[in-house]
Amino acid sequence: MTDRDRAPGEILVVSRQEVEELLTPAECLNRVLDTFRWVGAGEVEQTNPVNLYVHDRLGPEPEFGHGVVQAFPAMIRPLERAAVKWLGSYRQNPRRGLPAISALDLVTDIETGMPLALVDGTSVTNMRTGGHAAVGAKYLARPDSGSVAVIGCGNEGRTHVRALNELFSLSTVVAFDTQQGAAERFAAEIGDLLGVPVAIADSVESAVADVDIVCVVTTAPQPVLMEEWVQPGTHVCAATGFRDVDKACATRFEKWAVGWYGRDLEWIEGPEVGRLGGLQPGDLSAADIYADIATELMPGTKPGREAADERTIMTHMGMPALDAAVAALVYDLALAANAGTWITVF
Ligand SMILES: NC(=O)c1ccc[n+]([C@@H]2O[C@H](COP(=O)([O-])OP(=O)(O)OC[C@H]3O[C@@H](n4cnc5c(N)ncnc54)[C@H](O)[C@@H]3O)[C@@H](O)[C@H]2O)c1
Repeated sequence: MTDRDRAPGEILVVSRQEVEELLTPAECLNRVLDTFRWVGAGEVEQTNPVNLYVHDRLGPEPEFGHGVVQAFPAMIRPLERAAVKWLGSYRQNPRRGLPAISALDLVTDIETGMPLALVDGTSVTNMRTGGHAAVGAKYLARPDSGSVAVIGCGNEGRTHVRALNELFSLSTVVAFDTQQGAAERFAAEIGDLLGVPVAIADSVESAVADVDIVCVVTTAPQPVLMEEWVQPGTHVCAATGFRDVDKACATRFEKWAVGWYGRDLEWIEGPEVGRLGGLQPGDLSAADIYADIATELMPGTKPGREAADERTIMTHMGMPALDAAVAALVYDLALAANAGTWITVF
């Protein structure tokens, strides 16, 4: 079936396995780069995530974690698509045999308003997050970067290193995880996939001692990467907004960049402070940020890396436009591959 010959209430359901088969790191990275450009050029309408806090995030953590359900809506005019990610996040869910994060992306045609697809949003989130980390590294890491340390060998560890491999000629990966089995599985899988040696470190400090890029992608509730361990010339990709990275990296490194001020100020000095991410009120402010990707580094109004010995860090908490634009890409890829399952909802 093509986009045009379906009945109005038919939508394409694309499963996690299908997303993982259809969406390559290269195509995802290109879509993420385009999305930052569209956001910077004002061609995207998006709100910040609507956060529905199930539990009092400022109180003690309940047995299965502070629950939050979130909506991430965005309209991407150049794609003629809108989408919303509907996300549930309960950090301690694995203790009852459920994933910590689960998400669905609903994709809509903006010309007609018709729903088009329901896509597994967890795999899209994993891929776009690796993508935006790589975009940060494009502007801030040394162009000759060849070695990456991955702290936290889960889903994001995998997508981060695969996305970075699209931009840099990687020759070494160093992995660290508090779960030895997770590090071993990561090393075997990524070593095979990228054809590079993956060493397993016995501490975060030793993992980051001699690498060009550090990815911190853990579920740790407190900092595991300390500022004084990061060597001159290193770039840090931080996925959790200083929950697992020492906030001194923001002020003592030469450059701290965010993805897009419109999204990231929410968790730095806005309503998400103390609730999502690790920052508490007054820890950091907009004045500590060097630049954002969407409106400064990408358009070139501020330079990215300027010296080989600069220490740099990029944090971005994920804007709805990224989920929408990548989910729309998955829909197009699924149509082209005749993949997915059509269902009739009305
Ligand atoms: N910025 C964004 O837009 C964005 C998007 C998605 C996920 N995230 C964040 O990325 C993080 C990783 O997500 P994921 O899906 O890969 O999770 P995951 O559960 O697949 O992997 C996390 C890994 O971190 C490891 N870990 C936990 N504590 C550690 C420690 N102290 N030191 C080293 N390793 C440790 C775990 O053992 C696990 O292997 C989460 O905190 C998540 O909230 C951010």
